[in-house]
Amino acid sequence: MSIIDAKIEPNNNDKESITMNIKNILSEKVSAAMVAAGLPEGTNPAVSLSNRPNFGDYQANGVMGAAKKLKTNPRELATKVVAELNLEGIASKVELAGPGFINIHLDENWLAAQLNIVAQDDCIGVAQRGVNSGDEQQTVVVDYSAPNLAKEMHVGHLRSTIIGDAVVRALEFRGDKVIRQNHMGDWGTQFGMLIAHLSDKLAGNEVAETALADLENFYREAKIRFDEEEGFADRARADVVKLQSGDEACAKLWQQFIDISITHSEEIYTKLNVSLKRSDIMGESAYNDDLSTVIDELMEQKIAEESQGAKVVFINEMANKDGEAPVFIVQKSGGGFLYATTDLSACRYRSDKLAANRIIIFTDARQALHFKQVEIVARRANFLPETVGYQHCPFGMMMGDDGKPFKTRTGGTIKLAELLDEAVVRAAALIKEKNPEVSDDDLAEISKKVGIGAVKFADLSKNRTSDYIFNWKTMLSFEGATAPYLQYAYSRIQSIFSKANTANSNTETNNAVINIIEPQEKALALKLLQLEDVIDAVISECTPNLLCNYLYELASLYMSFYEACPILKEGISDEVKASRLALCKVIAETLKQGLDILGIETMERM
Ligand code: ARG
Repeated sequence: MSIIDAKIEPNNNDKESITMNIKNILSEKVSAAMVAAGLPEGTNPAVSLSNRPNFGDYQANGVMGAAKKLKTNPRELATKVVAELNLEGIASKVELAGPGFINIHLDENWLAAQLNIVAQDDCIGVAQRGVNSGDEQQTVVVDYSAPNLAKEMHVGHLRSTIIGDAVVRALEFRGDKVIRQNHMGDWGTQFGMLIAHLSDKLAGNEVAETALADLENFYREAKIRFDEEEGFADRARADVVKLQSGDEACAKLWQQFIDISITHSEEIYTKLNVSLKRSDIMGESAYNDDLSTVIDELMEQKIAEESQGAKVVFINEMANKDGEAPVFIVQKSGGGFLYATTDLSACRYRSDKLAANRIIIFTDARQALHFKQVEIVARRANFLPETVGYQHCPFGMMMGDDGKPFKTRTGGTIKLAELLDEAVVRAAALIKEKNPEVSDDDLAEISKKVGIGAVKFADLSKNRTSDYIFNWKTMLSFEGATAPYLQYAYSRIQSIFSKANTANSNTETNNAVINIIEPQEKALALKLLQLEDVIDAVISECTPNLLCNYLYELASLYMSFYEACPILKEGISDEVKASRLALCKVIAETLKQGLDILGIETMERM
């Protein structure tokens, strides 16, 4: 089995796994030296990558902070630490700079040795690198995608879906147990109008699947009837009440509607190569039975109180300077429950029943206040113990070229399905232009991977919290940080392998030793060994853009290496050739693995 095909089994602990994390290795060494130099145990060594290579590959800046605390001279303290620092065999040079920076130049042979461990064997290659055996495995609940089922998925749900999925895959790669929760909007007053309209359509002998083929249209029709047709609104309201009190006929219509709407979302998930399954759905309606208990408990604990017939919580933690606390409504005056009530119930379910150590929720930034207040109330009520992390990860909006929220020319919302289809059509035109000989089958396959990959990468590579401008031309370019650029780099390496194989069928790359000779090779080795570092950062900050950036830098380093270091050229010794091919293999695997975490597919030929 090749590494490329190897399935990652994050929970398989009997396989020996290696975690190549240079930062951790250096941190340990510097920490030990700090203690030996008299600093207290646990002082942060602050090891990070150097931003300028002439200052070494890594630097440790922790001495400055420590010296400040102890009110001693940082430079003198750093001198002591350096004297105690044992990086024998790891670093070729350790220098002291400025007021107390410690610059570490890694030894090329050590780097090569580390890389060879990673490259060496199919079973413990890149696929096994992920597993973080050292740390305790966590149970992480990730709430993402969560479209509202009354309507079709639109571009607003793209970000939650793909950012969430990338973080999920990163967590699984590092060995955490992930529980996906698709908190779909499947409940609420609009469903009264929708089931009333559906019931009329079915009475007119339409089939539900046909009636609901275009959810957007269906919603519009229902809304017009609700606003204009005599008696319809009353019927719709009555249906909601019936639905909520368990009326069977209404429940059946509702279920039909929900099932078909979920199928629409699933088509999108498949197109997007997103890992969400039907079993990950835990929609708003799933919490219905618990909502009155939630309110009872909040009242009993005197966290909630009556106010003008409603039940509310005053969020004193967020009071303004006049002492006025925002009001968080948990039950409406008529007795109805809200989005907020459901989220409180979800907190408890996730920490009690799912035993989450950490809960992550992806929605757009406009919901930030809501989740802040949910957390405050849930903590007070102990629905969410202090030991459970609760992290709302907001994201910015997708904008059109005009810098305004992304809309159709007539100002309507853009359906996600149509946007994705357009991506594939555009990619096909591009591929055909670059490679007119491509067969129809290949074209279909490649343009799907490139088109969808381009949309995803363009989104994932942006800073999560900022708005960004959606632009077909830049995302489909073969230059710059784009999916096509990375996919191309990958397939270019594959073509070197096939050339090497035809040129000399004996080229044995599997057990070849990687030697670092040229600076481009060293730069690549260093970069390749940082995969875990980067993924750990993606996991802690929920920022897949760091991985995008990493992969782009890796592909760029590969391109420079390719220019500077011939592989199959005449006159290249077998040893150098084998070393470079082995290096290429690790690069290809790392690119593939990284793109896979982003949910972007690669291909052998483009
Ligand atoms: N359905 C919501 C929306 O479309 C997102 C739900 C997010 N998750 C949650 N637990 N509230 O905005």
